[in-house]
Amino acid sequence: MPFETIRWHKGKVKLVDQTLLPNKFKHIYCDTIESIWEAIRNLRVRGAPAIGIAGALGVVLGMQDSKAKNYEQFKKQLERVISYLSSSRPTAVNLFWALDRMCVCCEQHRNLSVNTIKSKLLNEAEKIIDEDKNICRNIGKNGAELIKNGDVILTHCNAGGLATADYGTALGVIFHAAEQGKKIRVYADETRPLLQGARLTTWELMQAGIDVTLICDNMAGSLMRQGKIDCVIVGADRIASNGDTANKIGTYSLAVLAKAHNIPFYVAAPISTFDINIKSGEQIPIEQRSHEEVTNLCGKRIAPKNVGVYNPAFDVTPARLISAIITENGVIKKPNEKKISNFKLTYPNPLLTEREKRKDG
Ligand code: MRU
Repeated sequence: MPFETIRWHKGKVKLVDQTLLPNKFKHIYCDTIESIWEAIRNLRVRGAPAIGIAGALGVVLGMQDSKAKNYEQFKKQLERVISYLSSSRPTAVNLFWALDRMCVCCEQHRNLSVNTIKSKLLNEAEKIIDEDKNICRNIGKNGAELIKNGDVILTHCNAGGLATADYGTALGVIFHAAEQGKKIRVYADETRPLLQGARLTTWELMQAGIDVTLICDNMAGSLMRQGKIDCVIVGADRIASNGDTANKIGTYSLAVLAKAHNIPFYVAAPISTFDINIKSGEQIPIEQRSHEEVTNLCGKRIAPKNVGVYNPAFDVTPARLISAIITENGVIKKPNEKKISNFKLTYPNPLLTEREKRKDG
């Protein structure tokens, strides 16, 4: 991709400030955990996998100046840092997955010096980034099998390179299909209130030379009725063990519309987005955001003062509306609890398996 979403750079977290796109492409450098927390909360860095990466790098940032004299002191500080970063955004499970992975990494190296544990934490965060790049390519490859030459695809929000370490999940599928030589056209929902579709998805697709048309969120049904959409592909923030999927608010409406018009509805997500600890979408915590995101547009008030506002950032699409979940390990068609429990959901991380073993033993 022509940009690097997020990485470690000379003791700081360097990231593209996505709130400024598409008008300004600018990197910011976070050098405190407060600044990385703020970057996550205010969507400077956003999208489930990228939030996970920001969390992992946030742990490195929060621990790099630790003066702990031994492992026990270091671990206590690490737990405080993790608990603070956990409070930035609640829905994308990738954040908690990545923070847990950093915690396991620390435990795994308990017998080493504090300074060596610090460098192990940095290695682990960088490994998460490298793995994510690979994962997105494999999601792209697996998903492209479902796309035909000439397909017109509708997507919502941004599940591209900006939302991951590189390449993206839903957009990864589109990129790969295009790389295979398939002629693809995309409709991008603007995605109110924060316009990730209008600002970010169109920007990414245009840079990749993909034919993209921007629509307002309320236009999707009409396009489907006119037979102008061949399939819908979206990303995910959390997938419950029965396949119910949380994604950007508006995703559920698209899934209902797709069902009504007999159009395949695909979710593209890494294994780290599955939350097998919860049975269904009912248990997914949905982030509520500020009223101003709805009452204001580009810094200008567009609604009367004191109007009541409801602003959930995500909704849940029941598994029965999902034609397939596309992962790096393969595609789960018509997902349900049984298929998901039989699917290869192993994290690409031996450390977590190690922790499971210790718990059992
Ligand atoms: O609030 P955001 O912009 O973080 O929401 C992002 C989404 O809903 C994405 O579709 C999801 O995180 C998948 S990103 C690969």
